[in-house]
Amino acid sequence: MKASVRSNWSNAVLVCAKCSKKLDGGFGPKGKAPLAKALRKHLGLKKGRKGAAGIVEVKCLGVCPRGAVTVVNGAQAREWLLVPEGADLDGVAAELGLASNGDRAV
Ligand code: FES
Repeated sequence: MKASVRSNWSNAVLVCAKCSKKLDGGFGPKGKAPLAKALRKHLGLKKGRKGAAGIVEVKCLGVCPRGAVTVVNGAQAREWLLVPEGADLDGVAAELGLASNGDRAV
């Protein structure tokens, strides 16, 4: 039996799916994509274990900000981000320590 699998993710970022749903998108070039999807696309990340980093939608984190999305950076779990609707994705990626050059997130 295999007790573990390797992902080689450089980081794991948890994005509240419910916040995203409440905004009905809100991010990306047209402002219509949910944050996790927009960010993945912006960074050119593949889905799941194949990506250089993981951006995962999770259930409500209990913060429920208005007009923003709660995001937990796995590498800095002590402080959570509240990303306002329509935020610049380069800025968000920088805050999360994810590089925006294709699949080579650091
Ligand atoms: S709805 Fe996102 S933290 Fe509760």
